[in-house]
Amino acid sequence: MTEGRTARPGEQELGAGETARLVAWQVLRAVAADDAYANLVLPARIEGAGLTGRDAALATELAYGTLRAGGTLDEVVRRCASRDLDQIQPPVLDLLRLGAYQLLRTRVPPHAAVATTVELARRTGNARAAGFVNAVLRKVAGRDWDGWCDRIGGQASELGRLALRHSHPGWIVAAFADALPPAELAAALAADDDRPQTHLAAWPGRIDRAELAAEAGGAPGPYSPYAVRLDRGDPGRLAAVRTGRAGVQDEGSQLCALALTRITEVQPGESWLDLCAGPGGKAALLAGLADGCGAELTANELHPHRAELVARATRGWPVRIVTGDARALTGRFDRILLDAPCTGLGALRRRPEARWRRSPADLADLVRLQAELLDAAAELLAPGGVLAYVTCSPHPAETTAQVDTVRNRHPQLELLDARPAFGGVDQLDDRPTVQLWPHRQGTDAMFFAALRRPAG
Ligand SMILES: C[S@@+](CC[C@H](N)C(=O)[O-])C[C@H]1O[C@@H](n2cnc3c(N)ncnc32)[C@H](O)[C@@H]1O
Repeated sequence: MTEGRTARPGEQELGAGETARLVAWQVLRAVAADDAYANLVLPARIEGAGLTGRDAALATELAYGTLRAGGTLDEVVRRCASRDLDQIQPPVLDLLRLGAYQLLRTRVPPHAAVATTVELARRTGNARAAGFVNAVLRKVAGRDWDGWCDRIGGQASELGRLALRHSHPGWIVAAFADALPPAELAAALAADDDRPQTHLAAWPGRIDRAELAAEAGGAPGPYSPYAVRLDRGDPGRLAAVRTGRAGVQDEGSQLCALALTRITEVQPGESWLDLCAGPGGKAALLAGLADGCGAELTANELHPHRAELVARATRGWPVRIVTGDARALTGRFDRILLDAPCTGLGALRRRPEARWRRSPADLADLVRLQAELLDAAAELLAPGGVLAYVTCSPHPAETTAQVDTVRNRHPQLELLDARPAFGGVDQLDDRPTVQLWPHRQGTDAMFFAALRRPAG
């Protein structure tokens, strides 16, 4: 038990490591049973259990690691249990996943991984499954991670083997393979398992970036003049964040919002539109930039509760908030940001369970919606105006293919070379659109394309 905390009933004899394992298992349960987001559930569970320091880190590592490795762990468990996973009680299955993760992906000694998981079975009301858990985990311990990947992926293609080893669904590996040179694929997949830094944005005109870096104990981001990168710490506790002078925002997102304002020279009195603005991160950056150069910003969002978040994020700046379907919007705008609803495959490192939640079926619906939003945005462009099409996904169907097809439907739109608007960013591809990557720039895998309506 962590020092200084009163034990809850049933937890009296738990050591800190055992409490960390219990918390990790509770997070797995919430994700599997309630469709919860691990990054929301985990901090509350850690705080509720009074875990700090190394124990909190252990709970995080076990919960996030087990979720990320889920697909491969499940295949190992299925083979060792000699039954399909739907024949195993879901709480017991989560115990097996947690135990298998410790055996195959951590330095926890095998006997401790098995014994603590069997003990956890008893403590979580699954005592009748303790023998089964013990037997399955002993079989899991018979090989290491590489051994299991070789065994399971023996007949698989090269992509199939990478999918197993880096524990990504095959369709995501295929999408990354389509978007990247072959030599980078393994690094891109591995980057999704690295613990991501937290990125902050110093909102323009509200706080100096150096001041934010000093307050947060972080370092200036290498590309965005507003970015601060943090290795640790809870950004929600920072005064600058709590008082609306800074926000949590990936540096790649900052670069995309910024690029819209850099792609052509801003003229006095421009009118800007953030078409799909919720929850308002990019709208906040645009609002600060618009305020500094005399542009007017309209921020639109379909869902009222998300439009409320946009209003909160942009409070204090003169932003017109509109709630409604972007496809029904009217007006003329000089700069439009279409940060489209997408699969989010570019931010898998920040959402441990996301890679297993998304499916190719989601992709088809999203691609259709993105195309309709692009058509709507094209109609809203003033002569000479620029549309930035942005996704937090590197999937070619959501990125380069969308740009190709919108240009077929709207041949008057000119594709601008976006790279100069990302000045200072290294390792960009040799093409006019920009694709950022965690393994290259340390940002989310944001995509950016700029389309201009001719002035005449
Ligand atoms: C990728 S998010 C935008 C993120 C935002 N730009 C930010 O940086 O915080 C896409 C947003 O589009 C909204 N959306 C989905 N369909 C829409 C539609 N038809 N019209 C307007 N907004 C829509 C979603 O609710 C979601 O908030």
